[in-house]
Amino acid sequence: MRVAMESLRLSVVLLLCCSCVLAPAAAAVAPKKRTYIVHMEKSQMPAEFAAHRNWYDASLRSVSDVAEILYAYDTVVHGFSARLTPAEARAMEGLPGVLGVLPETRYELHTTRTPEFLGLERSEGLVPQSNTESDIVVGVLDTGVWPERKSYNDAGLGPIPASWKGACEEGKDFKPASACNRKLIGARSFSKGYEASMGPIDESKESKSPRDNDGHGTHTSSTAAGSAVPDANLLGYAAGTARGMATRARVAVYKVCWLGGCFSSDILAAMDKAVEDGCSVLSLSLGGGMSDYYRDSVAIGAFSAMEKGVVVSCSAGNAGPGESTLSNVAPWITTVGAGTLDRDFPAYIVLGNGKNYSGVSLYSGKPLSSSSLPFIYAGNATNATNGNLCMQGTLLPDKVAGKIVLCDRGINARVQKGFVVRDAGGTGMVLANTAANGEELVADAHLLPASAVGEKAGDAIKSYLLTDPSPTATIAFGGTKVGVMPSPVVAAFSSRGPNAITPDILKPDLIAPGVNILASWTGTAGPTGQSADSRRTEFSIISGTSMSCPHVSGLAALLKGAYPDWSPGAIKSALMTTAYANYAAGGGILDVATGSAATPFDFGAGHVDPPKAMDPGLIYDVDVNDYLDFLCALNYTTLQIASVSRRPNYVCDRKKTFAVSDFNYPSFAVAFPTASGAGGGSSATTTVKHTRTLTNVGSPGTYKASVSAPSEVKVTVDPTELSFAAAGEKKSYTVSFSAASQPSGSSTFGRLEWSDGKHVVASPLAFTWT
Ligand SMILES: *[C@@H]1O[C@H](CO)[C@@H](O)[C@H](O)[C@H]1NC(C)=O
Ligand SMILES: *[C@@H]1O[C@H](CO)[C@@H](O)[C@H](O)[C@H]1NC(C)=O
Ligand SMILES: *[C@@H]1O[C@H](CO)[C@@H](O)[C@H](O)[C@H]1NC(C)=O
Ligand SMILES: *[C@@H]1O[C@H](CO)[C@@H](O)[C@H](O)[C@H]1NC(C)=O
Repeated sequence: MRVAMESLRLSVVLLLCCSCVLAPAAAAVAPKKRTYIVHMEKSQMPAEFAAHRNWYDASLRSVSDVAEILYAYDTVVHGFSARLTPAEARAMEGLPGVLGVLPETRYELHTTRTPEFLGLERSEGLVPQSNTESDIVVGVLDTGVWPERKSYNDAGLGPIPASWKGACEEGKDFKPASACNRKLIGARSFSKGYEASMGPIDESKESKSPRDNDGHGTHTSSTAAGSAVPDANLLGYAAGTARGMATRARVAVYKVCWLGGCFSSDILAAMDKAVEDGCSVLSLSLGGGMSDYYRDSVAIGAFSAMEKGVVVSCSAGNAGPGESTLSNVAPWITTVGAGTLDRDFPAYIVLGNGKNYSGVSLYSGKPLSSSSLPFIYAGNATNATNGNLCMQGTLLPDKVAGKIVLCDRGINARVQKGFVVRDAGGTGMVLANTAANGEELVADAHLLPASAVGEKAGDAIKSYLLTDPSPTATIAFGGTKVGVMPSPVVAAFSSRGPNAITPDILKPDLIAPGVNILASWTGTAGPTGQSADSRRTEFSIISGTSMSCPHVSGLAALLKGAYPDWSPGAIKSALMTTAYANYAAGGGILDVATGSAATPFDFGAGHVDPPKAMDPGLIYDVDVNDYLDFLCALNYTTLQIASVSRRPNYVCDRKKTFAVSDFNYPSFAVAFPTASGAGGGSSATTTVKHTRTLTNVGSPGTYKASVSAPSEVKVTVDPTELSFAAAGEKKSYTVSFSAASQPSGSSTFGRLEWSDGKHVVASPLAFTWT
């Protein structure tokens, strides 16, 4: 969760809104134009046109004399984007061959220890040492790349795969000869949509090229497939060998995010190119609002990518811990939430009364003296109503000079609060969580001695501050601690289910490390991402589902390398059915937000377990026909199906019955009606049946089903035993879920496992009453 970045972006949004308020007077004459993505049905091009581009031009010309095509799309979608007035867009919708006209959407960007934590070190022998891993190209759609980082060292890598059709584009501060090599094999940037909406890119602030001036894209791409870098650390913290998940896979970056956000016309153009270039995996650590699949550009682009065998892995979002806060929920996308590592950066706050509280920090400057310093609550050192938040200019220097200041978390960036304390003459900071963040601790490379504490410790320290007549404290830094238990725990910020678009598909799919992750960084921003931070570091430690997504993207590349003929659905299934929901020592994975056990709405199938994913035994495979059946089950119209799948006039077979419950997903979400919802009946039992098909990808064997179900739901599996005589063999089964009505909004969970004694093929069960 890049609060720092989010708050920077927030100010951009505010600026935009100011111009919205000012604009109407000038815009009253000419209606305001915006970018629209026009999806066209390629096969409906009239014969008189020589090329699709001419047809698109003519279609555009028929609604506007002046509009220009920003992008023509040809791989994951067909059509183009252009600036149109709302009336022109409506006229466009009525033209022959137009499948849909979608307004531009703005998206936002949502590891030394990770490989060991994930068991990748111990799996070196388990992961087939296929040379095919180096044929896999991971395409990362993000803020670009800082190619000089050692994570992009290509030592030991063979020639660029012959099938690669991509390019390393020259641009500002980006010279292909020095930037690209056998590791970083592709780099492109996409800004036409951004500039059409936001005006020209300010080249004094960011390079109009694949160069990453932010850090986010360098961090995510090196996490997915960076080479191993010995002696990596951030200011001495998290020291060790940093490596991506798929160290021998290739990286191609597609810069689609700029200072003011990421725009769907650019993202779609990048997906179009990335698939055409020959990427096998696409990693998107960004998200926008929730909409139906036929109106969601990333979902539409991902459908075609999936059809071409490309795995699309996306961040679940950082809008947790509230319910139904997910983005990127299409079933053909792998939706990744975030958990913690077993690594921590403790910084102890010792109070004048002798009490000792543990917080976290990546502060690396001169430590505070061990003798106590005067300590004050920011709320007592301000005249401003929100002064407890340490907002710019709110602290009274005569109150805080020479003191440690306790600031409450919220509104402005965590690190910025430290600048405010320092600028007012404070010598240290304690950053206290409020209920909004609970016990979730995100370590920051503060510029003054500072430690972040959870809500409970924060409240205890505040009560000391408010009752002791002359409070004092000191902060002692504990460096890097590994082996923290329990871990992982679900990050509070990680977006949660249920899935608001299709409640019958459980999302997120799984979780991966996303808290305090070390990876490569840009050379044009400090590790905190704040402009006041003039430090430059090769690595940075940041948090978010933006960080967990590329872990899964890299693991998908490993799987694709080991099993080149597996479909994206098979790869997702292997990752999900081998994920764990319990700690090795017992007990379910915890949720930082509540301190109690998390549920499949928080972690999906569980936490990714790479060595096990390499040998899943059985998989739930799906192909494009299954997804079309899924769209039929959603009762999509022909036009809506065409928008998602690029199939004109696709008609759902009337002789078949389609049900989402028959879609071969590796998890189960069952929505039972409540008594009133079922027409006011009593507590009659409802039974819902799901059908699934397993494919054997291991040796012959017999698998037995076992279910752990909540008392409210009776679960029966038929048959309870499946025997596979050969690899590739498929066997189907049905699960019946029966339950009486429960109060609306209640939910409960279980797990279904198939095991041959060697493999466990597990699926989470989520039940809701609505
Ligand atoms: C505070 O607690 C930590 C561990 O809980 C310990 O390492 C440290 O020495 C303690 N500091 C003081 C001054 O008691
Ligand atoms: C600090 O503020 C609280 C109210 O927020 C007040 O009760 C307390 O007396 C103040 N303490 C000092 C030392 O000013
Ligand atoms: C803050 O409030 C106090 C008491 O009302 C007043 O004396 C002081 O001048 C104020 N300081 C600032 C910087 O506004
Ligand atoms: C689709 O329509 C059928 C028949 O009207 C209905 O039973 C089903 O619930 C609908 N499905 C969805 C996902 O709305």
